[in-house]
Amino acid sequence: MSSGFAGGSPFGLPIDAELAAASRERLAAVEEQLLEAVHSEDPLLTQASKHLVEAGGKRFRPMLVLLAAEFGDPSSPGVVPAAVVVELTHLATLYHDDVMDEATVRRGEESANTRWTNTVAILTGDYLFARASDLLADLGPEAVRIQARSFARLVRGQIQETVGPRDGDPLKHYLQVVSDKTGSLIATSGQLGALLAGAPNHVVDTITSACEKIGVAFQLSDDILDIASEAEESGKTPGTDLREGIRTLPTHHVLSGIGSGPDDARLRHLLTQDLTDDALHAEALTLLRAHPAMDRARSDLRRWAEDARDQLLTLPPLPSRDAFTGLCDYVITRTG
Ligand code: IPE
Ligand code: IPE
Ligand code: MG
Ligand code: MG
Repeated sequence: MSSGFAGGSPFGLPIDAELAAASRERLAAVEEQLLEAVHSEDPLLTQASKHLVEAGGKRFRPMLVLLAAEFGDPSSPGVVPAAVVVELTHLATLYHDDVMDEATVRRGEESANTRWTNTVAILTGDYLFARASDLLADLGPEAVRIQARSFARLVRGQIQETVGPRDGDPLKHYLQVVSDKTGSLIATSGQLGALLAGAPNHVVDTITSACEKIGVAFQLSDDILDIASEAEESGKTPGTDLREGIRTLPTHHVLSGIGSGPDDARLRHLLTQDLTDDALHAEALTLLRAHPAMDRARSDLRRWAEDARDQLLTLPPLPSRDAFTGLCDYVITRTG
C-alpha cells in the first residue's frame, strides 16, 4: 500500500504549488527521521519496527502537524520531530491494536502479530512508544504532557471498547470510545504542530478542537470502510469489527431499529451471534452492506466533518486553512 502523498498534492488537497512543495519536503524529512528513530541494536526489533513504516500508510497525522504549523512558523525546529512523534505513537497503537483485534493484514502487508508473534508485536509497539518519548524530551515538558495525556485517553478508549457500554447508552459509549481512541491523537497532532510553530493560543485551541472532530469523523469513516471497502483499498481485512464482535456506528443504527424487513430481523439476530463462523460472518457482512444503517452512518460522518470545517473557517484565511478544510472533505470521501 503506498503512502498518501507520493506525488502531487497530499490527500488531493486544494493547495497551491508552494505549500504542496513545502509539505512534500517536510514529509520527506519526517520519513527519514522515522526510519532513523526505529533503528535498534537488535536486528529483529529493527526489522519488526521498520515493517509497518515501510509498508506505507497515509501519514495523516504528520500532515496535520505540518498544516497546523503553517499558522505559526512551519520551519520551527520542533515541527518535523513532532510529526515523527505522532506517527511513531500511531504506529505503536497499530501494532498493539492488531494483537487486540487479531488482525492479520495491516497497510496491505501481514500484521506484525501474524508475521512474527503477539509477543514481538507487543514489544515492538512498546519500543515505538519509547522512541516517541525520547524525541519528545527535546520538545519540552508541555509537548511531553500533551502526548502523555493523549496516549492515556487512547488507552482508555481501547479498554472501554473492549469492556463495552456496561449499563450506559451504547451509542454515547461508542462516540466516547471513538473520541478517546482516535480523536485524541489526531487532536494532539494539530495541537503540537500549531504550538511548536508558535501560533497564537486561540489558534492552537481552535485547531485542537477542530482536529478532535476530524479525528472522530476519521474513525467513523474507518468503521464504515471496515464494512464497505474491499481489502485492496483499505489494506486491511474487511469485516474485522464484525468478526471481533466490536459494535460500530452502522451496527448501532441497525440495533436501534431502523429498517423493518425480514432481512433486518435476520441481521439483528446475527449481530447477537458469534461471528467468527465464516458463513455467518459473510451473511452478516452482506446484509449490513445493503442496510439503510450505512447511509445513516455516512450522514453522521458528514455532520462531524462539517462541524470541524465550520470551526476551521474561524481561523485566519491562509492557504493552509483551505488545505485543512480540504481534509474534512477527504475524510468524508476517502476509500482507504
Ligand atoms: C488506522 O489509522 C487506525 C485508526 C485510527 C482508524 P490510519 O487510517 O491513519 O492508518 P494508516 O496510518 O494510514 O495505516
Ligand atoms: C484503531 O481502531 C484505533 C487505534 C487506536 C489504533 P480500529 O481497530 O478500528 O482500527 P483499524 O480498523 O484496525 O485500523
Ligand atoms: Mg483494529
Ligand atoms: Mg481496534
